[in-house]
Amino acid sequence: AAWEKQVRHSSTPRRPNGLSVLVTGAAGFVGSHCSLALKKRGDGVLGLDNFNTYYDPSLKRARQKLLLKHQVFIVEGDLNDAPLLAKLFDVVPFTHILHLAAQAGVRYAMQNPQSYVSSNIAGFVNLLEVAKAANPQPAIVWASSSSVYGLNTEVPFSENHRTDQPASLYAATKKAGEEIAHTYNHIYGISLTGLRFFTVYGPWGRPDMAYFFFTKDILQGKPIDIYQAQDEKQVARDFTYIDDVVKGCIGALDTAEKSTGSGGKKKGPAQLRVYNLGNTSPVPVGKLVSILESLLNIKAKKHVIKMPRNGDVPYTHANVSLAYRDFGYKPTTDLSTGLRKFVKCENVGTDVVDGVA
Ligand code: NAD
Ligand code: UGA
Repeated sequence: AAWEKQVRHSSTPRRPNGLSVLVTGAAGFVGSHCSLALKKRGDGVLGLDNFNTYYDPSLKRARQKLLLKHQVFIVEGDLNDAPLLAKLFDVVPFTHILHLAAQAGVRYAMQNPQSYVSSNIAGFVNLLEVAKAANPQPAIVWASSSSVYGLNTEVPFSENHRTDQPASLYAATKKAGEEIAHTYNHIYGISLTGLRFFTVYGPWGRPDMAYFFFTKDILQGKPIDIYQAQDEKQVARDFTYIDDVVKGCIGALDTAEKSTGSGGKKKGPAQLRVYNLGNTSPVPVGKLVSILESLLNIKAKKHVIKMPRNGDVPYTHANVSLAYRDFGYKPTTDLSTGLRKFVKCENVGTDVVDGVA
């Protein structure tokens, strides 16, 4: 069928020993960037995304269109659709899965708890079940989150710091993902690598994230809410530029050992790893706003609230020495440089770029 042909074509590597990667969440922010980077390198990439309406799906369609231009095909479907996933693995012997599909966002969980359980827990288990049954078993690299460190204030965070105080249901489902990964690695010998991303930003980013809607609101002269503690330096984010995160994801894929099982049977010990992918340089939200003000050359209408929001963690700061040691991860983009690229990009949403100096 035409569908099968497209699936095969998209996932077949063009370079010798290239990877064949199923990228879940490929129409998303991080997924679309990673898919493009892998394809440009000559790897085979097949996307999967359900194009949900958590934020404007026209942005996801625009990313899909861009990927299609580069011959990356996205299958429209849900992580929880086991027959669909099984069919994909029947057609393609994927060497790797880059699992980025999830219900993201911290605050939305208070109104929509079930969507986190469905995508981040049930959907992940479903994917693992299909991967377990596949022959060969693909190595899996998946997105965890800095939010697993929760209320921990012992910074910078190293991977062995405590993660037993999640501040939101989102964080709890990401933490659950790490525990679930452990069991599939242990029982079935699936190679699993978790990446704790730290507040990723950049062109084609997520409209629900602060840097994105702050930019839009400042341009439109609308007021913005800045949540901070009594001492503004106590609330900060280790904002990480998308290109750095993409390099980290590819480094993790390239160094992932093969799974040791096949068809649900374990043969030997397989790799299980977790890494921070951050920027190592936390910035208070007020500073993020002042950088945007100078890039846009507009004074923001600031509404400062001297209280953290429910579900937010106070402070994030990554120690990335483990990722550096194992695959040379080194963030190279500071926040001003990255935001300059963001506000200049024509594709962040047409209303965002109008009037940029
Ligand atoms: P995103 O929302 O832009 O991308 C996720 C994509 O997954 C979306 O296109 C969505 O339609 C799709 N999706 C969601 N549920 C699905 C399901 N059940 N079946 C199929 N597709 C589904 O988010 P992003 O910022 O690109 O995040 C990618 C991953 O990184 C997520 O796992 C997120 O939790 C994690 N993460 C992101 C950040 C960040 O700052 N962007 C930080 C830490 C962790
Ligand atoms: C981000 C992503 O949205 C999560 O999906 C991801 O898991 C998380 O990073 C992570 O690193 O793990 P967050 O850092 O909360 O979460 O990102 P934003 O929602 O963009 O908030 C950034 C900062 O701006 C926070 O300190 C928040 O309190 C603040 N903020 C947000 C405001 O001051 N005002 C607002 O109106 C919104």
